[in-house]
Amino acid sequence: MATMESLIGLVNRIQRACTVLGDHGGEGSTLPTLWEALPSVAVVGGQSSGKSSVLESIVGRDFLPRGSGIVTRRPLVLQLHKTDDGQQEYAEFLHAPNKRYTDFAAVRKEIQDETDRITGRTKHISNIPIQLSIYSPNVVNLTLIDLPGMTKVAIEGQADSIVQDIDNMVRSYVEKPNSIILAISPANQDIATSDAIKLAREVDPSGERTFGVLTKLDLMDKGTNALDVLEGRAYRLQHPWVGIVNRSQADINKNVDMIAARRREREYFSSSPDYGHLTNKMGSEYLAKLLSKHLETVIKARIPSIISLINKTIDELERELDHLGRPIAVDAGAQLYTILELCRAFDRVFKEHLD
Ligand code: GDP
Ligand code: NA
Ligand code: MG
Repeated sequence: MATMESLIGLVNRIQRACTVLGDHGGEGSTLPTLWEALPSVAVVGGQSSGKSSVLESIVGRDFLPRGSGIVTRRPLVLQLHKTDDGQQEYAEFLHAPNKRYTDFAAVRKEIQDETDRITGRTKHISNIPIQLSIYSPNVVNLTLIDLPGMTKVAIEGQADSIVQDIDNMVRSYVEKPNSIILAISPANQDIATSDAIKLAREVDPSGERTFGVLTKLDLMDKGTNALDVLEGRAYRLQHPWVGIVNRSQADINKNVDMIAARRREREYFSSSPDYGHLTNKMGSEYLAKLLSKHLETVIKARIPSIISLINKTIDELERELDHLGRPIAVDAGAQLYTILELCRAFDRVFKEHLD
């Protein structure tokens, strides 16, 4: 009997293969449909609400460009693969498949460089995703997508259309019925003005695929707290809200590492007079587990429909491979063959799950 973990692992691999073949699938191909049927988590929110910081906390590693202003300028599709205990952590970019990164500062630099390769050193954005995989014993199997922050006005050096362009890009991810929305709002702003909640309310009015995350609890005015939001009274969602304390800019400047940051976050909640009673349901580690568990439930519920899509894809790939002729010399053929093998493995594992 295959484990749920291996199932999510396969979903991750097929997603990756589908993106590679995104342009190749051709008119009427089921590949884009397959990609859309597979669940992933899109991180949305206003600029500087803490999206990239939350992602880093979930991963437990420093590797993302962060800071004030528009830092994230291309979608980052981040696949987390849980490996066996004791294995060394490493990262790999889809655009440089043979290079293993064990230095996460170099990962951050490559994200910046790869962003600039498409957009130049500007404040412009691009829809073309960067694909990054992290293999680690310390992660849960998840696909997360970091997106540019929503904004209300173009700044110097940006086209006037940027506000709409970002909105369109973010929407294209969260509109998919299979997308899980990680809606990030900062606690030091009124929730009624949250870009993330505004968008989530539009695309997921029942709140069934939205996880509300409240960052910057430590930056709230003294004497106030966020219990109205965290306990679901201010804006009700089907899933519980999760409060987070990320590193401040000062912490980042002082190189406070992730382990220390997580410990401080736990202490913040356990010693808080306001949130002490919620301490087991707060923080980034809890959020990561909550998301992974939800992803499992979603995948399980979709197994039958994914199987039928997979089978369509298998048929289609076999036809395409026949057409190309074997043995396959060209890259595209080899990629098609890989995805075909993956689909077959997937089909087998899924069927075992049904038994
Ligand atoms: P993004 O633009 O939404 O990706 O936001 P970032 O993750 O880049 O964070 C923007 C700034 O807010 C950075 O300087 C972070 O250090 C800071 N920040 C994010 N979350 C928190 C938090 O929970 N507490 C504090 N004090 N600062 C935070
Ligand atoms: Na930012
Ligand atoms: Mg960011």
